[in-house]
Amino acid sequence: RGITLIGAPTDVGASVLGASMGPEALRIAGIAQALRARDMKVFDYGNLLGPGNPQAPAEGGFRHLDEVTAWNRALFAATLDTLSAGRLPLMMGGDHCLAIGSISAVAQHCRARQQRLKVLWFDAHADSNTPASSPSGNLHGMPVACLLGHGPEQLTHLADTSPVLAPREVTMIGIRSVDPAERQFVNEHGIDVYDMRTIDEMGMRAVMQSALADVDAGTHLHVSFDMDFLDPGVAPGVGTPVRGGPTYRETQLCMEMLADCGALASVDLVELNPALDIRNQTAELAVELLESLFGKSTLMREKR
Ligand code: ARG
Ligand code: MN
Ligand code: MN
Ligand code: MN
Repeated sequence: RGITLIGAPTDVGASVLGASMGPEALRIAGIAQALRARDMKVFDYGNLLGPGNPQAPAEGGFRHLDEVTAWNRALFAATLDTLSAGRLPLMMGGDHCLAIGSISAVAQHCRARQQRLKVLWFDAHADSNTPASSPSGNLHGMPVACLLGHGPEQLTHLADTSPVLAPREVTMIGIRSVDPAERQFVNEHGIDVYDMRTIDEMGMRAVMQSALADVDAGTHLHVSFDMDFLDPGVAPGVGTPVRGGPTYRETQLCMEMLADCGALASVDLVELNPALDIRNQTAELAVELLESLFGKSTLMREKR
């Protein structure tokens, strides 16, 4: 039960600044202590180093491609090292462009061991733009497309093989803001999406049961958790809030069901923006959710 916290303090993939302060806010909220209380052996790797934010306009469809690439290369290496050491990497972002590096490393690790991989993408957004379709050029809106092989070569080819993921290996949950080209991308690739309407109609329990139906104990489960998944009323500290998200209770249930499935093997915690937060409440919420993800439950009785 070893876990390595990897800080990736950058907002080069976003237009709103501040996600670069995410790792420190999580430390201040007691992330390491909380996970140690869950019987995890926690090692804080510290923060990765990378270029600053040039705040430059889009060029050829993206903003800050070289900077995003540098950060993702560093994260790819740190994640692969952590997995090779038999530990669970928990990436503390940073904006969501960083999932390209972390998940590229996870996929390479799984391919080498012929292990099944499942990525659960918790987000208000589909993050499936391509440089041609992105309204903003922000690379945090493109990681899913890059992982499926659509994007700039330097981001689609971080791992030995590309595309990094097959569409059936990704499931999106909480989606409620999708650009027209993203809708087309997601539909053409047949990605499993549980949008907010589905959550409203089925309820979170049935959604999670369905999302985890093909995950067994031998599967490598990667959770890519964008804090804007939650309703902004409970999680105000994010750069691209979208109203109508899951409640605190629904999100806790997600985390508890993920813990019960026993397959969790890597995590991204991204888009926490302390500059927009209220007295660090969104970071504290993130730590509470992580406690549940790592097995905290009210009575701590054995699972039935
Ligand atoms: N779809 C929008 C874009 O491409 C917003 C993306 C927001 N992504 C995020 N990871 N918060 O710019
Ligand atoms: Mn996202
Ligand atoms: Mn988002
Ligand atoms: Mn494709």
